[in-house]
Amino acid sequence: MKNVRTNGQRKRVFIRTYGCQMNVYDSDRMADVLRPLGYALSENPEQADLVILNTCHIREKASEKVYSELGRLRDLKVERRREGGDLAIAVAGCVAQAEGEEIIRRQPAVDIVVGPQAYHRLPELLARVARKSDERRFDGRRWPGAGVLDTEFPAENKFDHLPAPSEADVRAGSAFLSIQEGCDKFCTFCVVPYTRGAEYSRPAMAVLREAHALVAAGAVELTLLGQNVNAYHGEAADGSTWTLARLIRALAEIDGLARIRYMTSHPSDMADDLIAVHGEVPQLMPYLHLPVQSGSDRILEAMNRGHGRDHYRRLVDRLRGVCPDIALSSDFIVGFPGESDADFEDTMRLVDEVGFASAFSFKYSRRPGTPGAALGDQLADGIKTARLAALQSLLGRQQRDFNASKVGATVPVLFTEAGRKPGQMLGKSPWLQSVYVEGGAEMIGSIVNVRLLAAYALSLAGEVVTDQLPSRFEAAA
Ligand code: SAH
Ligand code: SF4
Ligand code: F3S
Repeated sequence: MKNVRTNGQRKRVFIRTYGCQMNVYDSDRMADVLRPLGYALSENPEQADLVILNTCHIREKASEKVYSELGRLRDLKVERRREGGDLAIAVAGCVAQAEGEEIIRRQPAVDIVVGPQAYHRLPELLARVARKSDERRFDGRRWPGAGVLDTEFPAENKFDHLPAPSEADVRAGSAFLSIQEGCDKFCTFCVVPYTRGAEYSRPAMAVLREAHALVAAGAVELTLLGQNVNAYHGEAADGSTWTLARLIRALAEIDGLARIRYMTSHPSDMADDLIAVHGEVPQLMPYLHLPVQSGSDRILEAMNRGHGRDHYRRLVDRLRGVCPDIALSSDFIVGFPGESDADFEDTMRLVDEVGFASAFSFKYSRRPGTPGAALGDQLADGIKTARLAALQSLLGRQQRDFNASKVGATVPVLFTEAGRKPGQMLGKSPWLQSVYVEGGAEMIGSIVNVRLLAAYALSLAGEVVTDQLPSRFEAAA
């Protein structure tokens, strides 16, 4: 393939990312794969030669959004071809995996459908599309010749075929690092085991290598990712198996790596050694996203979560025992088939008892092919809406209370971007709260001490404590 367009400009790719952090990581890695082919990132589809939608299948709304977006891209492509140019359209991610050929049938202008385990083969797929471009001439009504499809779980591992990460994979001092993929849990509501496949842990040395490269490229914070990240069991150099706790201890030895986080964890895999590192490794941030989904034992069972509410309560107590200020976060689903008023009250009581610093909550969405979709007693949307509103108002109050509990403290904040108002900078506290201060763009990517002055529903306001700046910031200021 040529590295430049015929007019001498570089080619451009626009990637739109839906869904979870694993998709954000994958989008960055797709950009890494395409860079050697001459593709620079574009800010919008209008200026791109290739558009990739990196999609999410988790709830119905998320996956239906993809088709309306594809309709718009088709119009753009028709216009482009009328002007003698072209636009390649690729669908990646979990909708690509789940719906495969159906995507091309519903939107024939799509050139490439590539699953989450096959995107390292994008260069090959693009070459195939280029070879086919003559037969795929839009005749004003139809789109002859089908796009290419790769939704295999290839025997070769995509991680072994991705280039080493670079500055482009570090955003404002922070980077994601996928260490585990797939899921063997088969919760009855969830599509992930089908879209991402079986659980797989990357070898510990490959993770350490990537972590070193990211820190060398400017990362001061790493978030380890996996659909079930705490089930990590990676092969080590000596043939033994490392747990997530062991891996975190090794990562904590990397010079310059100030913050470590991990997500998403499952309550059944919250091992003793992992709880212990929360009390022992200072770089591990006092924050844990530990989804519980429901507070009702009956519903947890029907969801096939593999644990009850008491197990979750005990985990929380033990985590707070070793790390008293740990901020807990969770995901909740309301309106799972058969959820009664009493079941929902159990969820509200659990929330009350635990006290969350933040949380995500969703109405149950019936996903084709999952066991939950086949259950009787699917609830009316009105019930789900009312329960979600009640739960979110309780969680919102807890988040505000948690934010308020930090007012007056001086805490290190990693600054990530400009705030909405001029002269305002936005960063993250150790507890993953958004913190605003007055300051300039030179703060981005630095950890700066901030005195917290006021708390709001979703953020805190503070002021930089100038006499306590870490050296990195002094150099920048
Ligand atoms: N592996 C993670 C979750 C991945 S999906 C875990 O085990 O917690 C992210 C969240 O989406 C889930 O925690 C769940 O709350 C929500 N979710 C998944 N499937 C859903 C569905 N069918 N309807 C509504 N929410 C769903
Ligand atoms: Fe989905 Fe359950 Fe696996 Fe999480 S643990 S990805 S919710 S099946
Ligand atoms: Fe969505 Fe796939 Fe992530 S379904 S939440 S993008 S694993």
